[in-house]
Amino acid sequence: MFFLRRRTLILKAILVLTAIWFMVALLTTNGGSRNAIGAPPIEYEDAEAKPLKMAKPTATKRKSESYGNNLSDGLGVLAAPGSDNAPGELGKPVVLPKNISEETKLAVQEGWKKNAFNQYVSDLISVKRKLPDPRDEWCKQPGLYLENLPQTSVVICFHNEAWSVLLRTVHSVLDKSPPHLIKEIILVDDFSDMPHLMQQLDDYMSSLPKVRIVRATRREGLIRARLLGARFVTAPVLTYLDSHCECTEGWLEPLLDRIARNKTTVVCPVIDVIDDNTLEYHYRDSSSVNVGGFDWNLQFNWHPVPAKEKARHQHTAEPVWSPTMAGGLFAIDKDFFEKLGTYDSGFDIWGGENLELSFKTWMCGGTLEIVPCSHVGHIFRKRSPYKWRTGVNVLKKNSVRLAEVWLDDYAKYYYQRVGNEKGDYGDISGRKKLREDLGCKSFEWYLKNIYPELFIPGESVAHGEIRNVGFQKICLDSPTRKSDHHKPVGLYPCHRQGGNQIQNNEYGHFCIDGVTVQDGAKEDEIPFAKAAMCHGSGGNQYWMYSKNGEIRRDETCLDYSGHDVVLYPCHGAKGNQLWLYDARTKLLKHGSSEKCMAINRTKEKIVMETCNENEGRQMWNMENFNAERLSPELTAE
Ligand SMILES: *[C@@H]1O[C@H](CO)[C@@H](O)[C@H](O)[C@H]1NC(C)=O
Ligand SMILES: *[C@@H]1O[C@H](CO)[C@@H](O)[C@H](O)[C@H]1NC(C)=O
Ligand SMILES: *[C@@H]1O[C@H](CO)[C@@H](O)[C@H](O)[C@H]1NC(C)=O
Ligand SMILES: *[C@@H]1O[C@H](CO)[C@@H](O)[C@H](O)[C@H]1NC(C)=O
Repeated sequence: MFFLRRRTLILKAILVLTAIWFMVALLTTNGGSRNAIGAPPIEYEDAEAKPLKMAKPTATKRKSESYGNNLSDGLGVLAAPGSDNAPGELGKPVVLPKNISEETKLAVQEGWKKNAFNQYVSDLISVKRKLPDPRDEWCKQPGLYLENLPQTSVVICFHNEAWSVLLRTVHSVLDKSPPHLIKEIILVDDFSDMPHLMQQLDDYMSSLPKVRIVRATRREGLIRARLLGARFVTAPVLTYLDSHCECTEGWLEPLLDRIARNKTTVVCPVIDVIDDNTLEYHYRDSSSVNVGGFDWNLQFNWHPVPAKEKARHQHTAEPVWSPTMAGGLFAIDKDFFEKLGTYDSGFDIWGGENLELSFKTWMCGGTLEIVPCSHVGHIFRKRSPYKWRTGVNVLKKNSVRLAEVWLDDYAKYYYQRVGNEKGDYGDISGRKKLREDLGCKSFEWYLKNIYPELFIPGESVAHGEIRNVGFQKICLDSPTRKSDHHKPVGLYPCHRQGGNQIQNNEYGHFCIDGVTVQDGAKEDEIPFAKAAMCHGSGGNQYWMYSKNGEIRRDETCLDYSGHDVVLYPCHGAKGNQLWLYDARTKLLKHGSSEKCMAINRTKEKIVMETCNENEGRQMWNMENFNAERLSPELTAE
């Protein structure tokens, strides 16, 4: 059996803090701003871009407010590496004892509030902590990588990052990379106002000659801050990292190797999870590597390496093609990045830039890969601790620009999901010209060749209701709490896709019905599919049967893992989300269990039974079914 959807429970070990560990080495350097960049601003070439200006490094505290405990405020405090039992060493979790003082509790709360991760715990951990080596043995073979790898400049943008977290990012780059491959680290300060990021940061970094600091003079947002950093890069390869990362042993060589072999290859490390509460370092072996995708809301998502891609490789640790990248952590040849027109400078702040770069990499002659030998940890926050100006839907503006320039006819699927209102997305003629000048391929080519797993609503094998044959009036439905009945049209994006939109007055029939569930929902929040009266008005009873055998509503799929049939985010790996419909017998057979979907005798529940071609309760009619659209793989089964 193949049950993908159960998540691994994270076991949290308890580490009692027995000693206050921090050894303090005071820096002897004074007033060191020699590695801070004070060069005059370079005007951005793209006409659409607003010019960026840099501030001189400044000691002026914009606020005199105190941030955090003494560790994060201590001027020029450089932490020594901890012993193996020090808090957080070797990636172990730090769990504060229950009986901490009220004062400490307040400090913990404050740290969460400012950073959306446990800053207090981070401050207890050495900024040079050792981590486990997450690499597959395969990655350590001698001669695997080219001898003469190109140098890289690492660009790290930050805004009000916690002291210990930012330092740990920088130290991990320096400590875990062969020194000759790091030309420089460029820290781009996107207009922070926390005091420790001003003179204190200059002072600290002055002891690290490879680190340079570039400061924006106003809040630029991630995209423009990255472009600002790129201007100071002198190495042939650009590597972007977030400011709350930790690189692990051997992370860099496998990335640079791919670029050395072909300059049009854009590479991403595997992103490991650093727990936001305990700072524990989690990693998985290369057999569970995910690649990037997206949905028609133009949201990035992860999915397992497709079978076809797996078949191209001898070993799971070999670099795999990825349709998209997550965006924060990647390396790219500088000339190729420039050739691709870097980022669309009409994009604001954050969002969509990762898809833009992914699409054009593939469509304009490059390759995008995830490199399983390269691991970088990242603190995933559950919310953004920063304030943004309100009233502007930044993400939507970026996504509309993205759709207009790169998606061709497929843009309609995105527009349908935002009510066909594009809003003001600015001038895109420059970006269209770029695409034309580069002679990039079509989005259809990209979908067919690079991301054939993507569900394309217009290619559904069936759409509409799924009606039971035995009990003619009963359809596939879902949680059907009273409050879920007759939801207004528009709550479900697929409503706008034609097909079953018309109220056909068949009230009195039962249907499969379902509300959608958020990714990351707890087990008890996952709605289950149910039989209900067919209401013929779509909503919870509107389903799409994909060419890959999923019964979906956009990104949510019917999923059976041995208990109830539930709705769960689609994972694209068939298994417990595969349903084989036979239009002759009308049976709906489940992939991994080989059972058939049925309605129980009292017409109340969806059940899974041993298949029986003579059992009407197991037979279903799918509306608008067109077998020709099924993937040939499924027809053969
Ligand atoms: C911070 O450091 C100062 C001076 O070294 C000391 O007086 C104070 O008690 C410290 N505060 C905390 C919370 O440790
Ligand atoms: C907290 O509990 C531990 C062991 O249970 C004890 O050793 C320690 O002294 C306690 N600390 C405080 C501040 O009460
Ligand atoms: C680099 O990769 C691209 C895209 O896969 C390919 O078209 C090109 O031929 C490769 N170049 C070399 C020198 O191998
Ligand atoms: C059908 O399912 C409902 C709901 O779980 C249950 O109450 C009922 O007893 C079931 N009927 C049969 C015949 O199993």
